[in-house]
Amino acid sequence: MGPAQSEQAFAPFPLAGTNWQLPPMGLGTWAWGDSSTWGMGTYDRSYSFETIRDAYAKSVAAGITLLDTAEMYGQGESERIIGRLLEEDKANRDRVIVATKFIPFPWRLPLRTKLMDALRASLDRLRLPFVHLYQIHGPISLCSHETMADALAEAVNAGLCKAVGVSNYSEKETRAIHAALARRGIKLASNQVEYSLLRTDPERRGLLRACEELGVVILAYSPLGQGRLTGKYSVRNPPPGKRNFSAYPMEEIEPLVAELRQIGQRHGGKTPAQVALNWLMCKRTIPIPGAKNGAQAEQNAGALGWRLSPDEVASLDRLAKPGRYTLFLRFWQHG
Ligand SMILES: NC(=O)c1ccc[n+]([C@@H]2O[C@H](COP(=O)([O-])OP(=O)(O)OC[C@H]3O[C@@H](n4cnc5c(N)ncnc54)[C@H](OP(=O)(O)O)[C@@H]3O)[C@@H](O)[C@H]2O)c1
Repeated sequence: MGPAQSEQAFAPFPLAGTNWQLPPMGLGTWAWGDSSTWGMGTYDRSYSFETIRDAYAKSVAAGITLLDTAEMYGQGESERIIGRLLEEDKANRDRVIVATKFIPFPWRLPLRTKLMDALRASLDRLRLPFVHLYQIHGPISLCSHETMADALAEAVNAGLCKAVGVSNYSEKETRAIHAALARRGIKLASNQVEYSLLRTDPERRGLLRACEELGVVILAYSPLGQGRLTGKYSVRNPPPGKRNFSAYPMEEIEPLVAELRQIGQRHGGKTPAQVALNWLMCKRTIPIPGAKNGAQAEQNAGALGWRLSPDEVASLDRLAKPGRYTLFLRFWQHG
């Protein structure tokens, strides 16, 4: 007899300092409204607001109620699309958790004013009174952690966000902002980093262990290697657009995809994407795969409700890659 369903299911995570719970998997929305990387209105002719609406509906129906966006995505278009979808979906609007991000360009000063203005602009586009999670998009501000914590505390105290997080922060930076926020009575909820079978550096460098110790949830971005782990791309058919994360040559990725496929067969025909996402949940992180249509969202939701064995996790660990860096990524990704 197999293990009971409850043992196979992944548990939700508390959203620090709130009564909200984060589901074991979320939905990334960088592609919503984006043309240059993701081809909306350019190279991907099959991709439209209607297919996004379907991705949203299929995800929420499967319990994937965490949407990750940013003021940067599609220059605000991702947030605008989410605002429209939530307005249309009155039945689910109150159970959807929205996480957005502030981009702390060094010239956005004074930080507190700029952050509060940006958050209000995000809320306007999202048509919401507050977001559940407000994240610092990357560690590129020249301000101190104390100044950043002051700005985030003001956002929480004004009721414009329920919890705060960071993204691309190293272990040292995570500990510093965690401590600065704690001095203001606020808990750092999350650190969003690129973590997948094509980038295990957050695990190798000890960031995962540190976040577990601090009670900071890891949101794993680009969990499908920007589509490279789904099995649909190959040496002959590489991903279109400029997908700069996880950009290993496809010939180096194919053995990993073959192993994902083989493991999936043993679980009743799970796809490479589903196995790759399940591996991330086995590592106690929340993957936030992007989906452009209902079929992708439905497939990704099939990563829930079952579990890889420890031996399968270990065999994938052996084939996993540390991460591939461009000059920009060295600057952007500290974690
Ligand atoms: N904080 C940061 O610095 C940062 C950076 C990057 C991403 N993120 C966040 O993380 C989210 C996810 O990362 P990502 O979008 O870069 O990459 P990803 O989730 O690894 O890949 C998403 C793309 O893969 C393809 N795909 C998804 N599911 C599929 C399926 N089941 N079958 C076949 N193809 C599928 C789709 O593109 P195609 O159909 O065009 O192949 C989709 O847009 C983003 O949306 C964003 O919210 C954050």
